Amino acid sequence: MDRQGRRLSYLRLSVTDRCDLQCSYCRSGSAGRTPVPPLSFDEVMVLGAAFAGPLGFRKIRLTGGEPLLRGDIVGIVRGLRERARFRRIALTTNGRALAAAAADLRRAGLDQVNVSLDTLCSGSYREIRGADALGDVLEGIERSVEVGFRKVKVNVVLLRSFSLAEFDSFLVWGRGRRIEIRFIELMPTPGNAEYHRLEHVGAAPLLDRIMSDGFAPVAIEGDAGPATVYQKPGDSLRVGFVSAVSRPFCSTCNRLRVTADGRLKLCLFGEESFDLRPLLERGPQAVADAVRNAVAMRQPGDRPTDGVVACERDMSTIGG
Ligand code: 5AD
Repeated sequence: MDRQGRRLSYLRLSVTDRCDLQCSYCRSGSAGRTPVPPLSFDEVMVLGAAFAGPLGFRKIRLTGGEPLLRGDIVGIVRGLRERARFRRIALTTNGRALAAAAADLRRAGLDQVNVSLDTLCSGSYREIRGADALGDVLEGIERSVEVGFRKVKVNVVLLRSFSLAEFDSFLVWGRGRRIEIRFIELMPTPGNAEYHRLEHVGAAPLLDRIMSDGFAPVAIEGDAGPATVYQKPGDSLRVGFVSAVSRPFCSTCNRLRVTADGRLKLCLFGEESFDLRPLLERGPQAVADAVRNAVAMRQPGDRPTDGVVACERDMSTIGG
């Protein structure tokens, strides 16, 4: 619990800052930047044990970069499942290598995957993400549904040039596939200021659209994230909105982040970070003590407002 009374229960752990895509709003694929040395398998296990054990965290999400670029990602999931008692293990991926990995990840104990997919058109995909990978990503999503993850979610970053026209197609596509679609407002970062100025679009008009179509907010079970989820009576489709920019959610933020090189971040947009790496060899309790001390410094929250660059690093180093 932090000093504002927020109960922390959800860890987002970046397992690598490498990525095989160069998305226009992120542009932090490995090109031109030296990847940080990521935490080793053993270090990840100690970290997991600290958060699931003494710190009582219930959920962990493996992020990147692109987590499937780690050759030992299935082992990491299995190790966390066996040694750290999280109730939910989730992973966020660009989906490119997912078709081949889905079954192994499921068997290893992964509960949930989120796939980043901002468009259903291959031309737009290439334009946004710099590679022709739409077919592979769609296949990865289909495989994930087949192998029976508890939940498959698709993250769609709202972009003026693409999302407004494709909004309805996403709903039609998601319906009947047991996929939850999450529309995320584009957040400003140091690397995307110009892109943000051009492409940021608020979620409000889209929200109005589905509400007038009969969708209504539904309660989310467990340690849900910052999304508000909407559903329509008699319709299985769930649509989430993460209105990070227009409707900040700091007051209910239940998460901590650890970067690929083992730095604890108290806030996605915060400047401060705490190096946990040297503590990992001393075991879970030492890590847990350090995390508790750091959490005491957690601020009420200072969200960016429209157009203000407040995120100290690019998403790929923090894991979103
Ligand atoms: N604003 C909003 N969402 C972003 N993501 C990456 N960068 C940004 C940004 N600047 C999304 C990714 C991924 C999720 C973890 O965050 O597309 O789906």
